Amino acid sequence: MEFPFPTVAVSEGAATLLVPDVPRRKGPGTAGPWPFYNPTMAVNRDLSAIVLSKWPRPLGSLLDGLAATGAWGIRMALELGVGHLAFNDRSREATRLIRENLRRNGLTADVHSGDLSDYIGKRRYDFIDIDPFGPPTPFLGAAFDAAKESSGIGVTATDTAVLCGTYPKACENRYGARPLRSAQGAEIGLRILLGYCHRLAAEGGDQIRPILSFSAEHFVRVHVLVESGSGSGSIGHLVRVGPGRFIVASGADRGAIGPLWLGPLGDAAVLRRLQPSAWTSVASARLLSLLKAECEMPPFFVTTDELAAGERHSPPRLDRFIEGLQEIGYRATRTHFHPRGVKTDAPSQDIVRMFRELSPTGSTDDSRPAS
Ligand SMILES: C[S@@+](CC[C@H](N)C(=O)[O-])C[C@H]1O[C@@H](n2cnc3c(N)ncnc32)[C@H](O)[C@@H]1O
Repeated sequence: MEFPFPTVAVSEGAATLLVPDVPRRKGPGTAGPWPFYNPTMAVNRDLSAIVLSKWPRPLGSLLDGLAATGAWGIRMALELGVGHLAFNDRSREATRLIRENLRRNGLTADVHSGDLSDYIGKRRYDFIDIDPFGPPTPFLGAAFDAAKESSGIGVTATDTAVLCGTYPKACENRYGARPLRSAQGAEIGLRILLGYCHRLAAEGGDQIRPILSFSAEHFVRVHVLVESGSGSGSIGHLVRVGPGRFIVASGADRGAIGPLWLGPLGDAAVLRRLQPSAWTSVASARLLSLLKAECEMPPFFVTTDELAAGERHSPPRLDRFIEGLQEIGYRATRTHFHPRGVKTDAPSQDIVRMFRELSPTGSTDDSRPAS
């Protein structure tokens, strides 16, 4: 098949894909004249394939709603063996390329060219993937309208500067929620996206159950199951009361953030069963292992940067600090949200005590009492 752009064959996961041969830079990527393919998003597709392999409901049909080259849907079909597969993209060049990529991988599927919001309600799918340029909000109303009980929805958002607090006004306008620019910004942004999904599900009398949610590179990603019920306790506002510490507040309180999702980011029982596959990259396997370790920890985390600034002491080694908290009886683990973050159930005074105890002698201020 001929295309009006140069092409190159790439391997990703179990798939061989023909993609536009264009210069790529790191980061989210933006809409261009040719179908979009971003190799950095392989981690997103790796994690989708892993979680969908243990999805808690039957997966007879999948819709790759904003499919571009078809990379997501083709990988899911090859790596999971799903029966009915559909692709949609409004770009005609994209749908031609998807057909070629299906042929190359020995697959058949419905391929549709049009606006996702018009197409999405045409039939029911067990799982719909929404992976746009930037915010997913223009598509989520239609996706949750179309979702029935037991439907799964995967959502990627690359507008992380908005969700994570760099542009708070834009976040209020787009997601109806106040973010917080902070070390915890990515977790807050992820919870704002989940809170937004929850509110849309609630409009149809349903609730969401997050199965796997994470932040990576330049995006946040959620995989949720739509279920009947209200889930009303899972959403609220918070106020920051210390490094990595937030308490439930009213939306009218000074400094309140949210509304955001306060429940678990994933389903621990499902996560425990997840394993890298033969097609999982080393980076994705590492992310999976962090997600498994932190899935049963309380929300939010403290960073040694924040503690060092507050205590005016150099931080201890992160592993030693985590072991120290574990040795005095608390749960503590690294978090994928921040390279110097620790998720723990230890109370603030014991976190600070352990930090002081393990700080190297090169502290920047010896005049403070050790308490
Ligand atoms: C970020 S790319 C998708 C990447 C793809 N999911 C992957 O894994 O490689 C977004 C795609 O959405 C398509 N698109 C944008 N707005 C759309 C709309 N309203 N309806 C259907 N497709 C749309 C674009 O043509 C583009 O191919």
